Amino acid sequence: MLDVIKCDLKKRREKYASRFPMLSALRLAVAVALLPQLRTVVIYRMSRWFRMHHVGLVARMLDVLNIQVCHCEISSMAEIGPGLEIAHVGGVVIGGGTRIGSNCLIFQGVTLGNAYGPRGIKAASDKRIQPTIGNDVTIGAGAMVLGPVIVGNNASVGANAVVVDDIPEGFVAIGVPAVSRPAVKA
Ligand SMILES: CC(C)(COP(=O)(O)OP(=O)(O)OC[C@H]1O[C@@H](n2cnc3c(N)ncnc32)[C@H](O)[C@@H]1OP(=O)(O)O)[C@@H](O)C(=O)NCCC(=O)NCCS
Repeated sequence: MLDVIKCDLKKRREKYASRFPMLSALRLAVAVALLPQLRTVVIYRMSRWFRMHHVGLVARMLDVLNIQVCHCEISSMAEIGPGLEIAHVGGVVIGGGTRIGSNCLIFQGVTLGNAYGPRGIKAASDKRIQPTIGNDVTIGAGAMVLGPVIVGNNASVGANAVVVDDIPEGFVAIGVPAVSRPAVKA
């Protein structure tokens, strides 16, 4: 658990160290510890650790703490790789069947969950009902990724998009329902 938290911290430290080169590692660690964006990730990492060690009650209590303190509902049953960054807290919902790779950036108001409708819950042939997100993916504010869709590595989901189909690697998806197109190189 500590190794994964170190990766989450490292990502932020790199980001802020370039902006504040005079900031010592200790002061930076204290500053980062005060950020709710980091706190929500640390609470998730702890709850995930308890979940993996079969202490489900503590995991659930930490999940509830995360909702109450950070207004983020990140299930301890979700599998999330190292280097997760939540850009702003509030309204983030990540369901228990979701898988997220390394170094992903998630903005406020994002929902990653199942596609529940009157015809029931949409499931993939491998029984997945929630999204699988690759590495280095950015998911913009208010976006929803619903059902067993696969979001490729380095893809971006635009703000307020509703993704119900797979996004190829490196593509950008925008709109409702989201349409994917290759990313425009800067
Ligand atoms: C989708 C996104 C990744 C695209 O970035 P980009 O590749 O640099 O694209 P551009 O800004 O050049 O826009 C390309 C086109 O998509 C449109 N577009 C951009 N973002 C859009 C969105 N979220 N929804 C619908 N259309 C969008 C633009 O209007 C433009 O349309 P046009 O080609 O008809 O002129 C980016 O716009 C985005 O939504 N990022 C999330 C940012 C965020 O959540 N910020 C929160 C800050 S708190």
